[in-house]
Amino acid sequence: ISEIARVKNLNRLQIGQHEVEAWYFSPYPKEYSHLPVLYLCEFCLSFFPSSLTLSRHRRRCTLLHPPGNEIYRHEDISFFEIDGRRQLTWCRNLSLLSKCFLDHKTLYYDVQPFLYYVMTQRDDRGCHIIGYFSKEKESPDNYNVACILTLPQHQRHGYGKLLIDFSYELSKKEGKLGSPEKPLSDLGLLGYRSYWSEKIIELLLNTEDDLSIDDIAQRTSITHADIHYTCSTLQLFKHYKGQHVICLTDAIIEQHQKSMSKKKRRIVPEALIWKPPV
Ligand code: COA
Ligand code: NA
Repeated sequence: ISEIARVKNLNRLQIGQHEVEAWYFSPYPKEYSHLPVLYLCEFCLSFFPSSLTLSRHRRRCTLLHPPGNEIYRHEDISFFEIDGRRQLTWCRNLSLLSKCFLDHKTLYYDVQPFLYYVMTQRDDRGCHIIGYFSKEKESPDNYNVACILTLPQHQRHGYGKLLIDFSYELSKKEGKLGSPEKPLSDLGLLGYRSYWSEKIIELLLNTEDDLSIDDIAQRTSITHADIHYTCSTLQLFKHYKGQHVICLTDAIIEQHQKSMSKKKRRIVPEALIWKPPV
C-alpha cells in the first residue's frame, strides 16, 4: 500500500498564470491528492481543490510577496529570506510544492532548521516566485544549499544559475566555502557544473597570475573539491616544470566567449543587503 501511495499523485498544478505538470509524488493531504488540477495561491502557497475556492481565498489573502525580509533587489529580481521556524505553514507549503519536482526524500515538516531564500520577479501586482533554495541554519558539512528549485515554467532561462550564484554570494559574506548537499539530482548536477565552469574560467581569464585551487576557492567560495572536480572535467590541469598548473585552452576560451555573448542575468553583489544571521 505504501508503494501505491508513493506513485505520483497530482496531475497538474495551477500557480498564478501558469499551469504545470507534477513530476513526482508529493504528500499533499489525501483529499487533495487525486484531483486533476490543484489550485495554488501564488503568494501564500495555500492549495485549493477548485478555481472557485481559490478565487474566494484570493479576495481575502493580502500577501503580495514571500513572508520575509527582502534582502536583494536589482532590476525586477528580488530575494526574500524566510525563517522556517517563524513561517512554518508557508515553508511547509513551499516544501510540498517543491517535492512535486524533486525525486529524493525530504522532510516536508522539518522546516524549522532551515532558512529559505526565495527569488521573485517584481511587477505591479506583486513579487512572483520563480525559484528558491533552502539552507541549514547550522551545517556541520558546510553545505550552503540543501534543496534548490526553479519552478518548471521558469526553467532553462538561467534562473538556476542565478540562484546558485546567490548562494555563493551569501557564503562570501559569511567568509566560508560552501557546496550543495549531496546527492545532487541530474538537473542539479548540470546546473552546478555549468556554474562552476563559468566562474572558474572567468576568474582565470581575468587574472594575470597563476592561480592555485586555493586562490580560486578564496575568491569564489567554491570548495577545493568542487574546483578540483571542475578543472579535471575541463582538463585544465597541465604539468609544467614538475608542477601542476591550471590553464585554459583556446577551445575552452572560445566556447566560454560564445556562451557569454548571450545576454545573461547576474547577481550584483552591491544589491545584497545582508549580514549572516547570528
Ligand atoms: N537538459 C539539459 N540541460 C539542462 C536542463 C535540461 N533539462 N536544464 C538545465 N540544463 C542546463 C542548462 O543548459 C544550463 O547550462 P548552460 O548554461 O551551460 O547551458 C544549466 O543546466 C543551468 O540552467 P539554468 O537555466 O540556469 O537552470 P534552471 O533554472 O533550469 O534550474 C534546476 C536548474 C536544477 C534548479 C532545475 O532544473 C530544477 O529545479 N530541477 C528540479 C529540482 C532539482 O532537481 N533540484 C536540484 C536538487 S539537488
Ligand atoms: Na525542505
